[in-house]
Amino acid sequence: MRILMLCSEYEGLIKTGGLADACRGLTKSLVDAGHQVVVLLPKYGSLYELKTQDWQSVYLTLGQRPFGCAVRHLNQDGVSVGLIEHHEFFQRLRPYDDGEHGYADNPLRFAFFCKAALTWCREQGFCPDIIHGHDWQTALAGVYLQQEQAQDDFFANSRFVFTIHNGAYQEVVAASWASQLELSESAEPVNLLQQGILTASKLNTVSSGYRDELLSEPAANGLAALYQQRQADFRGILNGCDYSLWHPAEDPHLVANYDWPDLSGKAACKTWLRQHHQLPDKPVPLYVAVSRITSQKGFDYLLPALAQWLPTTDSQVLIMGTGERQYTEALFALAARFKGQMSFVMGFDEAMAHKIEAGGDFFLMPSLFEPCGLNQIYSLRYGTLPIVRATGGLKDTVVPYPEPDATGLHFGPATAAALVKVLQQADALYQDKPAYLVMQQRGMAQLFSWQQAREQYEALYQAALAEN
Ligand code: ADP
Ligand code: GLC
Repeated sequence: MRILMLCSEYEGLIKTGGLADACRGLTKSLVDAGHQVVVLLPKYGSLYELKTQDWQSVYLTLGQRPFGCAVRHLNQDGVSVGLIEHHEFFQRLRPYDDGEHGYADNPLRFAFFCKAALTWCREQGFCPDIIHGHDWQTALAGVYLQQEQAQDDFFANSRFVFTIHNGAYQEVVAASWASQLELSESAEPVNLLQQGILTASKLNTVSSGYRDELLSEPAANGLAALYQQRQADFRGILNGCDYSLWHPAEDPHLVANYDWPDLSGKAACKTWLRQHHQLPDKPVPLYVAVSRITSQKGFDYLLPALAQWLPTTDSQVLIMGTGERQYTEALFALAARFKGQMSFVMGFDEAMAHKIEAGGDFFLMPSLFEPCGLNQIYSLRYGTLPIVRATGGLKDTVVPYPEPDATGLHFGPATAAALVKVLQQADALYQDKPAYLVMQQRGMAQLFSWQQAREQYEALYQAALAEN
């Protein structure tokens, strides 16, 4: 199949979270299976240093305004990636925000991205079978595809497939935006995510658990009726894990590699991590987290839970992330209060994320909601038992202790009390070495392959193409 992959993030080029991992993992797997895939991505400020090969210029109008841009190509690990270069829209260091606030022109920036992508296809004579968009940033591709199809036959056989990686980010804009985005007049605010859901031939999200949650409120953030309306075309496809990047036996970021059954390398990773983050070497478990620091990830109750639990245990905590200042300040304060027992690293550091995955004993994911979650999947492979709130993809990927085939720990209510209780349970489990080791071994043997996910996407594409 010919596939146009519209991404706002792509691992190895630009990343703020798991969307980047998923876009690359799926694309690579499709390319490996012989599909002809072109990835298009905005050329953000951080991508200006990249060496690109050939390029084309593209001219288009959006909201009756003329625009021009260049599409610059590179080969990223066997995948053909086109960077859409428009200095005014994309030459900014961060993709979506200035660190505090979303850019005010985000709707226009990403509308432009979608329109430029389709125009490039037409000018290059590249007629995709599938235009696959991811999240609100690419939702308008569905609308523009319909407009192109009304105009002539070029895209007559193309279908728009839309993947929702996070249904909470919808990008709702005032009705007055409609004309500059070339959307039909509206009396109501315009919800970009909704436009994607309405115009996709087929849609999916990234676990079946989250797919089912989206059929009702409050998980659907106001769009439950729409998801229900599209229920027959709406699937849950669990993300895979790119084991060429996330494998403790081959990971170049680790001070020592390891795999089951010889975990001495993991012990060396833990020692390194403690030294590096001012945590003393003691026979106690190390609880870690690598996370976007937002309310989605449970910081509202994780912080009080840690404040309550840390004085009652010798266990240690290491958290790395970037995000909302209210939480990062509280994390710094907590780390200062529990110096030598808790450390907080503010930053986005890929190599350190791997080191933390390897050096921890338990990985914390107390998310309020989690469409899929990749860190718990990486944790399983690294023998770092995930502690997850039983929601969405977390529930789908971690089997809770004490079930016979347990791979991690679950808790239900999003409260400090429930979290403290599971932390106490984890402390006790860590003391029961045989039980802890069996769970590590089981977790490390789990396989979340992209091949399996890709086959489900192929079926989704086929179903989209079968439609008139
Ligand atoms: P989400 O996409 O909601 O942020 P996921 O668990 O799906 O959650 O994916 C998060 C991805 O982003 C993982 O690959 C994780 O390692 C990475 N990540 C998150 N925060 C950081 C950080 N501060 N530094 C490095 N990597 C990070
Ligand atoms: C989103 C979700 C996360 C998911 C990722 C990749 O960022 O929050 O749960 O794993 O996308 O699909």
